[in-house]
Parts: sequence; C-alpha cells; structure tokens
Amino acid sequence: MGYPHPIHPKETPVLSRHFGEAEARTYDGWAARGGWEGLRTALAMAPEAVVEAVKASGLRGRGGAGFPTGLKWSFMPKPSARPHYLVCNADESEPGTFKDREIMRWTPHQLLEGVAIAAHAIHAERAYIYIRGEFTEAWAIMEAALAEAYARGALGGDALGSGRRIDVVLHRGAGAYICGEETALMNSIEGKRGNPRIKPPFPAQAGLFGMPTTINNVETLAAVPHILVRGAAWYAGLCLGSPKSTGTKLISVCGHVQRPGNYEITMGTPMRDVIFEMAGGMRPGRTLKAVIPGGSSVPVMTAEEVGRCVTDYEGVVAEGSMLGSAGMIVMDDSADLVYQLWRLARFYAHESCAQCTNCREGTGWTTRVLERILAGQGKPEDLDLLVDLGEQMTGKTICVLSDSCAAPVVSGIRKFRGEFEAYIRRERQPALATV
Ligand SMILES: Cc1cc2nc3c(=O)[nH]c(=O)nc-3n(C[C@H](O)[C@H](O)[C@H](O)COP(=O)(O)O)c2cc1C
Repeated sequence: MGYPHPIHPKETPVLSRHFGEAEARTYDGWAARGGWEGLRTALAMAPEAVVEAVKASGLRGRGGAGFPTGLKWSFMPKPSARPHYLVCNADESEPGTFKDREIMRWTPHQLLEGVAIAAHAIHAERAYIYIRGEFTEAWAIMEAALAEAYARGALGGDALGSGRRIDVVLHRGAGAYICGEETALMNSIEGKRGNPRIKPPFPAQAGLFGMPTTINNVETLAAVPHILVRGAAWYAGLCLGSPKSTGTKLISVCGHVQRPGNYEITMGTPMRDVIFEMAGGMRPGRTLKAVIPGGSSVPVMTAEEVGRCVTDYEGVVAEGSMLGSAGMIVMDDSADLVYQLWRLARFYAHESCAQCTNCREGTGWTTRVLERILAGQGKPEDLDLLVDLGEQMTGKTICVLSDSCAAPVVSGIRKFRGEFEAYIRRERQPALATV
C-alpha cells in the first residue's frame, strides 16, 4: 500500500511530507517526525494568542469557501457556562476531491493534533470529527490513532500534561453529500435528518447542540500544527501569487492525466505546472479540453484559461472559476462535455436534500433537459432554458448545493455551446437512449 507517486520537484510537501510512510501513523512515528510539538507549543500559549498566530499565517479554509481560519475562530464568544465545540469536517464527498482521506490514511496524528490545537484556541473541551461513511480504511486508522493518543496522554483530561481537557469523538456519516455542508453535518451528529439550517444564527452563536461551534475542514486543521511549530511568518511566506492566498494546498488531480493523484503546491503555482508537469499532462496524442478546478461545484475552465491561471483563490476567480476544494477534473479532447455535465447534474439531483424548491426542482429539471439533449431530442431553446434555470438556482436557497449544480452547466454552455448545439441539430450520435 505504497503512496502512489514520488514527490515532484515543484511540490512543497508540508502536510503530505510523510504520506506513504506507515510508521508516521503511530504515535511514536509521528512524534519522531516532529509531531505533537505544535500542540505542546499551543498549550503553552493563551488560546487568544493561538488565534492571532493563525490569523497572521493567512490560512484560509480548505473545505471550499476559503474563509480566513483565524478570523472564523475569533467569532467564538468568550468562555461561559455554555460548552464550545470544535467540529472537523471529514465528509469529503465532492466529486474530484480526494485529499482529506489521504491525510487521515497516512497522518492521522497530524489531524488529531490540529483538532486539539483548534479546540484549545476556541475554548472547547470536546471536538467531533465527522468522517464520511464510505471511508472504512480512514475510519479504522483514525480510531487506532485516537486510542493511542488517549493512551499516551496527548488527549483526555490532561492533554500533554497541560491540565487542559481535550476530548475527541469520531462520528461516522452515512454517505450523504449534503452532510458535508456544515449545518447539515451538525444536524446529522445530533441524530437529525441532514438538512442545512438557515443562517443566521451562525455556528459560532448556535451550532452543534445549539452551542457555540467552529467547523473546519480536515486539510485546514492539519495545517495548523505546522504554523505553530514553524511560525505564522513562514506559512505566510509560502506564496507565489496573491498575498491573500498563503501556505500550501493539496490539489487532487483526476481524469485524463497520466499521473492522477494529490500534489501539494505552494499557493500561486501555475495551474499548467500542476496539470502538465506534476500530473504528467494528457495521454499521448491528446490535448487539453477543459478543467473543472474546484471539485465539481465550480465553473468549467477552457484550456486557454488553464494556461493563464495561477492556482490560488484569487487566480482562479480571475479566470472565471473558483478554487473550491481544489479537486481538478481534467478532460482531454476525447471527453464529451455534455455527457460529463449531465453526469454531474444527475449527482446533484440525487444528493439534493429537497428542502428548497429551486434546488429540488432545478437540479432534476436540469438533469432531464440535458438527458433529452443527449438522447437527440433537444430543442434549440433548451440552452436558454438551462441558463435561465441556472439563474433561478443561484443564490436562492439555504445552501449552495443548487448553485453548485448550475455553475458547471451554465459555464459549460457559455464556453462550449457548439457541443450542445451539435446534439440539438442531430449532428452527433445520441449518447443516451430515448428518454
Ligand atoms: C453541499 C455542500 C457540501 C460540502 N461538503 C464539504 C465537505 O465534504 N468537506 C468540507 O470540508 N466542506 C464541505 N462543505 C463546506 C462546509 O460547509 C464548510 O464551509 C467547511 O467545512 C468549513 O471549513 P473550512 O473553513 O476549514 O473550509 C460543503 C458545502 C456544501 C454547500
């Protein structure tokens, strides 16, 4: 079970540095690699000083939205009789994204350490790690690491001998994409149906069990020990592009590349380096057609846009898309974009929690219109209909699942209209049976 690829010279391995080393999974193996020093450092600091350090590092949420992590932590109220909770989002169900599971598989103590530091920073005695149900291997590894961390006194009533209580609870999801949305996830932990909640109130006021809660992604929290050990200035200095995007980012590259996998880059690395050098570029004789760069929930990019793009939050927005969770779905000239976008729309329709009308109806309707286009039964007005539907699905619902369905489809029509029109004009063989 070796890690699938050697480190590429253009990578900056920080979180992934010990991927592939089985010993790094154990308490001692992690400690021998400098592990648990971040927590030791943090526990010697006032919680507010930890928040300031993370603010100064420029770390932003790696779950998709890119919200500044230290700022999010600072929204937590002052300690009171009400318990505070930290939640780690390890649901990772976004198509194209497969980084968090690797952090858990290879470096479970790295995550536990980050979780414990964040709990200290926000005055929480208890943290929950919500792990996607299908991650059986990651679950088993996290369970074993958690037991070891308790046995060695890193967690529990006297974390690393600090007198501070930090408990961590693993909670297993049941395989619903919507439960990755932060408030649906909290409902799920509470034993309720995983429906997103209306905000406000925001989790910092009323989150898990109605208590002040901070929720962060696995990769976000796994970066925190390194910031504590090596300093905020070191982390902020890992920056090749916009000063607002600092540190390293794990990029999951999948699709039509020669070496799919996770590549850890310094923020601001050119996207073409990631796709053509680290991931090995297209298969022989093929050319790049399109990339969906943020997991599947963001606008499609053309090869030209990819060629210009700097991989950080601002750089991808400048090219008309979003970095999101940085799962890059790469398609070469053999890809049928209409078919791929239909597959994605069908995913969102299946995963909609159905609370909001525009999402429940919009995702299904989008899927059916794409289906009839692919079956050779499309009408010329279908493309305007899809764009119109997309507008009705954007910014109008409790969470952004609906927007996430519309973004790739609408951008796909804008940028690759000819491919849709070829089906509608019956110039292309139907890709689906009659609907
Ligand atoms: C439908 C949907 C699914 C999501 N899935 C995930 C997920 O699997 N993992 C994740 O970290 N964030 C996911 N998010 C984003 C979370 O709501 C939240 O922004 C994130 O966990 C915050 O952590 P961060 O600030 O560290 O990025 C999802 C959001 C939506 C709308």
